[in-house]
Amino acid sequence: MNIRKLVKKEVSSLKAYNAKEIPCRIKLDANESPYGFSGAVERIAGIRTNRYPDPEAKALKLLIAKDLKIKPENFLFGNGSDELIYYLITTFGGPVLYPVPTFTMYGIICQALGGKKIEVPLDKDFDLDIDRFLLTVRKERPKLIFLSSPNNPTGNCFSAERILKVIEVSRGIVIVDEAYQPFASETGMLPLLADYRNLVIMRTLSKIGLAALRLGFMIAHPEIIGEVNKVRLPFNLNAFSQAVAAAALKRKGEFRASIKTIVSERERLLEEMERIGGILPFPSEANFILFRVSDPARVYTSLLKKGILVRNLNDAVRGCLRVTVGTPKENTAFLRELKKILL
Ligand SMILES: Cc1ncc(COP(=O)(O)O)c(C=O)c1O
Repeated sequence: MNIRKLVKKEVSSLKAYNAKEIPCRIKLDANESPYGFSGAVERIAGIRTNRYPDPEAKALKLLIAKDLKIKPENFLFGNGSDELIYYLITTFGGPVLYPVPTFTMYGIICQALGGKKIEVPLDKDFDLDIDRFLLTVRKERPKLIFLSSPNNPTGNCFSAERILKVIEVSRGIVIVDEAYQPFASETGMLPLLADYRNLVIMRTLSKIGLAALRLGFMIAHPEIIGEVNKVRLPFNLNAFSQAVAAAALKRKGEFRASIKTIVSERERLLEEMERIGGILPFPSEANFILFRVSDPARVYTSLLKKGILVRNLNDAVRGCLRVTVGTPKENTAFLRELKKILL
């Protein structure tokens, strides 16, 4: 596959902004102030506030690369994966294909950037409607295909076999957005990266306790990374996020423990919701559960009156609300109020 040919011509001729760090004794090249703010701010993470952050987030990159057993050249960070979606569509343009319902940012960003968006409904089990999807891939030849697996808001993983078919048939790039992978029972698509040059995997730290930092990353062939890097804003990751994430990721035990609790709470929620009459919860591989009720607006407002905020997704998935897994205490309160509303 010739990646270069897929890139928009305006981007193809670009050179990435050169913001490499050059070791030196006296730094007078970047129009920074020589004076930082000593005291509390700098002491938090040993950051010098007067200097631009590391444009390549090297320390963090090495840490995550080692953890996932991936080479650093296969990585690109975004200020959240939202930013990477923006960069991918800026780099390659449309048509952009994705199943619906799914994460809304694919469509929003595509439209904002003037790309053609193509939406194919999921099948009745919320899996890819593979015949229709492949037909659309062959007919429309999308430059980019976004597959959120586990899918937001339905919570299921698409079948690996169907994802593979899409990757094999597509002449464009297939982005498997694995934002919720840490909560899934399947391992995801990382092991396939070496076999498919048009495969991009997107992950984020947002769902595992670090949403405030805005840190997403994509893993792909270095050629794709190089092209997308041309449109990346030079200092897209601030120094505090880099430092806090690096420190936090060293506490692997804490991450594992919270993910384990969320997964077991998700199963408890599902079981209890299945026992409540008048509601249909869908099994989930993510940190939320989609559920159908006969009057979503009433259930939404009644929960909110009790101070419990869920997402009303009636516009995207008929009759459905989405609840994020909280702490055991929060989940119990949610179940209690839900039962009262539906009894
Ligand atoms: C499927 C999916 N991808 C990406 C994101 C965005 O993640 P980030 O916080 O890294 O921008 C979300 C957020 O809800 C999501 O559901």
